[in-house]
Amino acid sequence: MFLGNVKIEQKSVLAPLAGVTDSPFRQICKAFGAGLVFTEMVSADGLVHDSEKTRQYLKYEPMERPIGVQLFGDDPDIMARATQIVAAYTPDFIDINLGCPVPKVTKRGAGAALLQNLKQIEKIVTAMIRATSIPILAKVRSGWNEDKIIAVELARMLEQIGLAGITIHGRTQTMKFSGRADWSIIQSVKAAIKIPVIGNGDITRPEDAHLMLKETGCDLVMIGRGAFGNPWIFKRINHYLESGTLLPEPRPSEKLDVCISQFKMMTRDYPERSAVFEARKHIGWYTKGMPQGAQFRNEVFHLTDKNAVEQALIDYRNSLELLEKV
Ligand SMILES: Cc1cc2nc3c(=O)[nH]c(=O)nc-3n(C[C@H](O)[C@H](O)[C@H](O)COP(=O)(O)O)c2cc1C
Repeated sequence: MFLGNVKIEQKSVLAPLAGVTDSPFRQICKAFGAGLVFTEMVSADGLVHDSEKTRQYLKYEPMERPIGVQLFGDDPDIMARATQIVAAYTPDFIDINLGCPVPKVTKRGAGAALLQNLKQIEKIVTAMIRATSIPILAKVRSGWNEDKIIAVELARMLEQIGLAGITIHGRTQTMKFSGRADWSIIQSVKAAIKIPVIGNGDITRPEDAHLMLKETGCDLVMIGRGAFGNPWIFKRINHYLESGTLLPEPRPSEKLDVCISQFKMMTRDYPERSAVFEARKHIGWYTKGMPQGAQFRNEVFHLTDKNAVEQALIDYRNSLELLEKV
């Protein structure tokens, strides 16, 4: 299928996830077949005020394509200027965050707070579209709360002004990340507009992806938490959608091989301290439920030297392989 003028080869895509979807993790997900990946949300204000730290979020490797950069902000002028800054990095898409429920973002009127002000969304997205020829996408929640479900009205308006595609997360702002995502709102949006719809919320297994596509008619499915320590989910989903059969999960030692590759990439991209610190959550997810996992995590989370962490991962991987042979 095409999103804007870009061909998307696979139906499963990686969600924007703050603190998670950095370049190493995106590369890994891409290698496992993610059809499209997104950066985490990037502050438009940060970019416009020329924060070098904020610009780091815009860097990506060619193999990550197609890639979308996600922006958050509340001011049309700042968002347009940030769009131009992002455009210089030539991503395939620029996405606006209309769903983040975190007070730090909503208090200043950005993210999900904009769901209460459709006129402001119209101004921002119009300004972004005018600022670049790169296709603009939006990622939205169903509404602010269950009495104000506005996704269909919002999607119609955004289609009219020239949006290239929309992601629907079937939760309201007040639900944050709890409860079940309501997939019926994805179906309602799909029925109301012609631009591509990406469905999002609670896909953790290949069967869920198949069900969401079938139930809602959405064009692509987006995976967030289901990819934590589980990047092969894209390969398993793609395989299931093509063949109707389930690929087995990788063996624990194979999972550790992926974790080690990701850690090595992180040590190349980050200063040593940040690499070790940022890697901890990923190591925690990769090793969840594994034999002697709790003991391993307890040890590795105390290490601060990157070579020591890498060696601990290798030793643990080898111990898992030995267990697999008995
Ligand atoms: C740790 C974390 C960080 C997130 N960061 C972002 C973000 O930067 N931008 C965004 O649009 N959504 C963000 N989300 C929301 C996810 O993209 C996704 O919409 C949500 O988790 C529902 O999908 P899932 O059930 O597949 O996880 C985040 C969610 C989590 C759990």
